[in-house]
Amino acid sequence: MSDIIVESYGAVRLLRLNRPDKKNALTVAMYEALADALAAAETEGTVRAVAILGSGGTFCAGNDLKDFLANPPRPGDANAPVLRFLKALARATLPIVVGAEDVAVGIGFTLMLHCDAVLVSPDCRISAPFVDLALVPEAATTRLLPARIGHVRASELYMLGERIDGTRLVELGLANRTVDAGRLEEETLAMAARFAEKAPGAIRATKRLMRGDPAAIEAIIHEEIGYFLERLASPESREVMTAFLEKRPPDFSKIAG
Ligand code: COA
Repeated sequence: MSDIIVESYGAVRLLRLNRPDKKNALTVAMYEALADALAAAETEGTVRAVAILGSGGTFCAGNDLKDFLANPPRPGDANAPVLRFLKALARATLPIVVGAEDVAVGIGFTLMLHCDAVLVSPDCRISAPFVDLALVPEAATTRLLPARIGHVRASELYMLGERIDGTRLVELGLANRTVDAGRLEEETLAMAARFAEKAPGAIRATKRLMRGDPAAIEAIIHEEIGYFLERLASPESREVMTAFLEKRPPDFSKIAG
């Protein structure tokens, strides 16, 4: 079965992350499938809202770290699958609703900042450990996050890698409400259906006005990816990721600098 499952519920298109044994960590192939699915939802004409969910009782542990080491995006490749997915989110005209439980890490968190409604389980473990991986955040969220919650609260999440739970995500104004994990799927689809019932042109125009110029968001995505790829190629970043996969603490003692 595919790692991304696409389902239709009336006018709602559901994109389900389906790699639960790896906490739905995203691979290059999954970004490609997500970008294609978003493009199809945008162009088919019958879809009115998109929902994103995980599977197996978990949402998303971020980019697959093994894939980061084996298949990093090539510098200058504007069509790298992760960039295609991020730009599809930034340019989405359909409303997007996400439901997250258990873990929302890295891009599993940053994608929420591109969604129009966020439901989260109260105990969901949410973090953006980019700096702890010797990386920088992505998805234009170096600007979107401080704009939403202020610089000092954003720096706790982004510079200190602080982990928060779903209840705190709601307090920060980054999620609509908490929903117990057992009801998350049903309520996420119901929320998406509410968007889908509205006048579609008015919804698209309102989303465009609320989010501003997608080209400006895309420009930040490109700015960030330059730093990101430089950091990803660094020995310290590779050591942190290798250490995670080898289930040991990172050892920086042999790294020059
Ligand atoms: N990339 C690759 N594999 C991952 C992964 C990731 N981002 N996140 C989890 N996994 C794998 C684990 O290696 C483990 O695989 P194994 O069963 O073959 O050993 C499996 O998924 C389950 O993860 P586990 O760590 O046992 O679950 P947990 O509930 O104890 O912890 C997390 C969940 C998300 C907190 C923890 O897995 C983690 O920190 N993952 C890395 C997150 C990350 O740094 N993402 C990149 C952000 S840019």
